[in-house]
Amino acid sequence: MNKKNTTVRHAPGLTGLSRAGFSSGFGVLAATLGSAVGLGNIWKFPYLTGANGGAGFLLVYLLATLLIGLPVMIAEITLGRQAKANPISALQALAPKGQPWWLIGAAGMLAAFLILSFYSEVVAWVFAYVVKAMRGSILSSDPRVTEAAFSALISDPLQSLLWQWGVLVFIGSILLLGVTKGIEAMTKKLLPVLFLLLLLLCVVSLSLDKAAEGLAFLFKPDFSKISASVVLTAMGLAFFKLSIGMGTMMTYGSYFRDDQNIPLTTLRVMSADLCVSMLAGIAIFPAVFTFGFAPAAGPALVFITIPAVFSQIPLGQGLMLAFFLLAAVAATGAMLSLMEVPVVILHERFGLSRARATVFTVLLLILLGASCALSNSALADFKLFGLTMFDLFDFVSSNIILPAGGIFIALFVGWVWGFKKFRLALGNHGQLHNEKLARAVFYLLRCVSPLLILIVMLKGLNFF
Ligand code: PFF
Repeated sequence: MNKKNTTVRHAPGLTGLSRAGFSSGFGVLAATLGSAVGLGNIWKFPYLTGANGGAGFLLVYLLATLLIGLPVMIAEITLGRQAKANPISALQALAPKGQPWWLIGAAGMLAAFLILSFYSEVVAWVFAYVVKAMRGSILSSDPRVTEAAFSALISDPLQSLLWQWGVLVFIGSILLLGVTKGIEAMTKKLLPVLFLLLLLLCVVSLSLDKAAEGLAFLFKPDFSKISASVVLTAMGLAFFKLSIGMGTMMTYGSYFRDDQNIPLTTLRVMSADLCVSMLAGIAIFPAVFTFGFAPAAGPALVFITIPAVFSQIPLGQGLMLAFFLLAAVAATGAMLSLMEVPVVILHERFGLSRARATVFTVLLLILLGASCALSNSALADFKLFGLTMFDLFDFVSSNIILPAGGIFIALFVGWVWGFKKFRLALGNHGQLHNEKLARAVFYLLRCVSPLLILIVMLKGLNFF
């Protein structure tokens, strides 16, 4: 095999910088999975599926994951591993001189701040629920009780802010103490437990009176409910779920080992991630119909339904405590990967020490995140384009910045980087024989994915 093309031009300012990488193949898988699996599965997937009509939404989401998510994720990781640098430097190094592809990395940093602003608030609710679960005050199958408990929390400005600050300082400290590796090791052990707990919840939920109705909602598509905006939301979820379109996977790719099989790892991460979401859906919708919640309850859905399911089983309180603790662990992995994007850019591009970069990021998030923390209380009436800051940050990041990032990553690989380099990098420079796969992914990236994303975006945003 020709090895001439394997040399990479170093990203500016990166020569000599030693980068810690993932130590084993399983470590890579666990860390990448740790970024993908999070509140997106447990909170966002069920609430968006409920709000957008159920099975039809699920179907579009699956298609978007396969046709768009998978190739873009492969592209991002491959670029990251090839350049071994943060997204901005990576794209500068791989692109012809003077072309502004590095802007994808800059947009990614903006997306990271927007997502972290509202995500940290949802993590804050999870942390608050850990404490509530200890006290047992929310364990009930009466919608009035669980709904009242949730609105009491989110409509209290002080609680919302304090919990969010707690979360941000907690994640910042993990980064500052350099114990990310320890956290990853812990996540690796705890994710299977979350999986088991979700399985148990599914069994309980499936034994409820109206389980069949819930399953029909989740699996029997009603195509009349699929509109352009539903398709855009499903595609946005696919990007959000896989942590792609904003440089997170490029950053993680930069820590990948050279002998790691990228397509296989990606496929495994995607499948495991889909499994967790499906389990969350199966645990939630039968209960929603049995206890008389509204499937379209929005961001509150999980927080009001889960306590109702646990109220049906012996040891429900202890198990619910375990559930929210594990959800917090899953969310921590996702948040660490989100924060890694601005921190590594500020460190490698702007010369800040990692510690300073972390403190700066946390402080900025305390300011920016407050607008989301207060979206259900003091700032409930402060809206732009008809959306509160919480909803606006979510909409702009998932439905605009990430898909746009996806378009440019796909175009970059398909038209600038080219097949030869892509194939070599994806085949580990001759070690793997995955030419056919590389060709298929390459043509998806060159033609299908960008066009599909563009059409969905323009139609979903009412441009035509
Ligand atoms: N994929 C994470 C989740 O589903 O919870 C959220 C996320 C993490 C989005 C990292 C984007 C990202 F870069």
